Amino acid sequence: MDDGGFKMSAANETKLNDSDLCHIGPGTPAGEMFRRYWLAISRAEDLKEIPQAIKILGEELVLFRDGQGRLGLVGLHCSHRGSSLEYGDIEEKGIRCLYHGWLYDVEGNCLEQPLEPAGSTFCQKVKHPSYPVRELGGLLFTYMGPAKTNPPPLPRYSALVREDGMRLVFPPRFWDYSWFNFWENVVDSLHAYVLHRDSRSERSWENAFWRHRGDHHLDALPTEYGLKAIVRWPGPEPETEYVRLTTVALPTVFSLGGRGEEDLGFERLLFVTPADDNNFMVYTSDFIPKDAANPVDEREKARRAGPSAANVKEYDKRKYVPFKGQVWKEDYVCQSTQGNVGYRRENLATSDCAIILLRKQLLEAMEIVRNGGTPKGIIPKAKTNEMISLEAYRAVLTKSQVAQLLNGRS
Ligand code: FES
Ligand SMILES: [Fe+2]
Repeated sequence: MDDGGFKMSAANETKLNDSDLCHIGPGTPAGEMFRRYWLAISRAEDLKEIPQAIKILGEELVLFRDGQGRLGLVGLHCSHRGSSLEYGDIEEKGIRCLYHGWLYDVEGNCLEQPLEPAGSTFCQKVKHPSYPVRELGGLLFTYMGPAKTNPPPLPRYSALVREDGMRLVFPPRFWDYSWFNFWENVVDSLHAYVLHRDSRSERSWENAFWRHRGDHHLDALPTEYGLKAIVRWPGPEPETEYVRLTTVALPTVFSLGGRGEEDLGFERLLFVTPADDNNFMVYTSDFIPKDAANPVDEREKARRAGPSAANVKEYDKRKYVPFKGQVWKEDYVCQSTQGNVGYRRENLATSDCAIILLRKQLLEAMEIVRNGGTPKGIIPKAKTNEMISLEAYRAVLTKSQVAQLLNGRS
């Protein structure tokens, strides 16, 4: 386990602080918080008929579908003498270790130990680590918390369950720094105005944002499952404002919607899952309503366009140069060099208000879990079958609509 040097606090009275967000191994406050939620762990289509090693929350695991199509997520290292089940054989009833043939089902029961004497019942004493896995909207999710057989409902986010259009799930992205640096960036809505100004793709509506030089406003409001971040700037008419609204559901679901009125109804969700303290995965799922223009091609073109090397000096040997002109690389340079939260020196400003709220909510969730409670973002059992909409849009609103939006603090 990669615990990043974290020492378990002897008593729960130690006050949690930002540095606790960086440690997600078993037994850490953030790790235990994450273990109360369903987490995205793979694209369904990427799980073929071979076992797939995967690290989640500091635990080495192996993901597979048994011969009956049941999804399994079990400890990577065989409970006999530790060989990797990534090289095991998938059978009708489970996964068999290649070394001495111990067979495990998706619930971690050891079913066979072929080299033990006939009549041995030793396999009944072996319990291999396992976690439940479910598929929804082309993604696989796991729940690694207590009460594995009675987990909270898997949230039915609208982008994952709507049937009135097309769903696209993108290949996961793997990054090699603290998950939280990526995560707080999703509500750092104003950074785009500086960092990505020159690498934006042409979108008629959004150009209004980029052209606006003055006073940008960012507000952050708590919601039932997390928070929403609202950016606004002067609209096309005196009594109007351009508004960009995005929503977070705890712990790590982000709804960012379309790029403008032309993308109305388009949904994009990001799911962030820490692999360990210094690595994380990002899963992206889009929903494009029937008859809507497909904004994905345009976006992907912008994302894939390489950085411009044209102006790089021949003596510029900085590691990440060139990066300007490629959105993901611009983000990577900023997020991977800032150091971990709670350890870096910071001066949070007014434009960091959404980040301040996000940190507060996550620390509260960690504290609640530490005290045995249910944190924000868990779907109540009564809403098991309900579709959850995470609001996200860009629109021109009247100033009175904006006032209403900002007063609707729930
Ligand atoms: S190490 Fe797996 S069966 Fe022996
Ligand atoms: Fe960015």
